[in-house]
Amino acid sequence: MMKLVPSLVALTLAITPTLAAVPAWGQCGGINHKGETTCVSDHTCTYLNVWYSQCIPRVATSTTSTFTSTRSSTTVSSTASSTSSTSAPPAATGFVKTSGTQFTLNGSKYTVVGTNSYWIGLSGLSETDMNQAFADMAKGGATTVRTWGFNDVKSANGIYYQLWSGSSATVNTGSTGVQNFDKVVAAAKANGIRLIVALSDYGGMDVYVSQIVGSGQPHDLFYTNADIKNAFKNYIKTFVGRYANEPTILGWELANKPRCKGSSSTASSSCTPATVTVWAKEISAYIKSIDSNHLVAIGDEGFYNTPGAPTYPYQGGEGIDFDVNLAISTLDFGTFHSSNIQNWGTQWIADHATSQNRVGKPVIIEEYGVTTNKPTVYDAWLSQVFSSGWQVRCTGAQAGSRLPGGSTHDDGYTIYPDSPAFSTVQSHAAALKERA
Ligand SMILES: *[C@@H]1O[C@H](CO)[C@@H](O)[C@H](O)[C@H]1NC(C)=O
Repeated sequence: MMKLVPSLVALTLAITPTLAAVPAWGQCGGINHKGETTCVSDHTCTYLNVWYSQCIPRVATSTTSTFTSTRSSTTVSSTASSTSSTSAPPAATGFVKTSGTQFTLNGSKYTVVGTNSYWIGLSGLSETDMNQAFADMAKGGATTVRTWGFNDVKSANGIYYQLWSGSSATVNTGSTGVQNFDKVVAAAKANGIRLIVALSDYGGMDVYVSQIVGSGQPHDLFYTNADIKNAFKNYIKTFVGRYANEPTILGWELANKPRCKGSSSTASSSCTPATVTVWAKEISAYIKSIDSNHLVAIGDEGFYNTPGAPTYPYQGGEGIDFDVNLAISTLDFGTFHSSNIQNWGTQWIADHATSQNRVGKPVIIEEYGVTTNKPTVYDAWLSQVFSSGWQVRCTGAQAGSRLPGGSTHDDGYTIYPDSPAFSTVQSHAAALKERA
């Protein structure tokens, strides 16, 4: 799901605190807290709510991050105020809506917190197993789970939603197709969970390109080729249309991680952030035309487009302009990923919180992860996200379950109910729900 640069893994280990005292931003008190309550020097254990007390620096500190932001005017200690909304509270429809930088449900605040489970609909799980898996996620505090609403294949096998033959695609409406996704929706609903559903990803996009234009063709033809866009819209019409009146769906994402390049395919030299922006406008407007109930986002990793910036996530090279895209009228919230949270998470999150407040739409961290030392790292980091005042939401890491037939897939980031990090995530979710 996410890639870690080996040298960053080493750095993660090297800067992991080994002192008994609680490090900066670490938890030092609260219900269920069994660890240390004394903070490192120059930090005060500060009560935030019944769930969390936290070691907060007595003086503003600079981040230890090696990540250099071009937006360094946004200091990590700043507390961005959320944009107040002048719009009337939404009616009681049961659909999650947005109001300024908040998510709402029936006019009240809806706390988006949760996890990823790309596998829930694609592993051939029984309804009982799906139910168990969602029950585990709910136990971890998830209100919202991000999953995959696509699987494009060239030969029928297992669960798939669209079967390609030459340049034509047929949506699989049978029990191994969208009827399987009906079960995912039902199991989520039974556990009080809402779903963010991605409609393609980098590999899925490449199937459209290779089937319609030819193998080895640039990835970004997905965004510009008229036949490909029509094929994608045809899939959206069937899949999105099927759930247009289903409140269990929180929202649709155009694709997981759209970029100019795919994971193994190239980009044309003409692909720029504007390419993806134009496509995102067109496809999001199309979704709204057949489903006006649900929220829509791109599903991107949150790259900025500041040519000449010192670090690559800010340089525009991947084909995403987060600020420009967030302002698109048919997009309701923004998303970003933070694959190495400890080394470059802080400024990256602060910058997205700034974008959130400037544009006045909510922003979600959708993937984050470390593969080692998760409880310590996540405790420090999630506490910081919580107390920062940034008000970004988080549906990160990967959910896992121990099912009767075996454990669900472990991508290295997976948190099972018996993983040490499970209670960390659980406390964070509880604290977020408590937060006014
Ligand atoms: C929201 O309103 C809908 C429609 O009236 C209702 O079915 C649903 O139970 C409400 N949900 C909550 C959480 O209040």
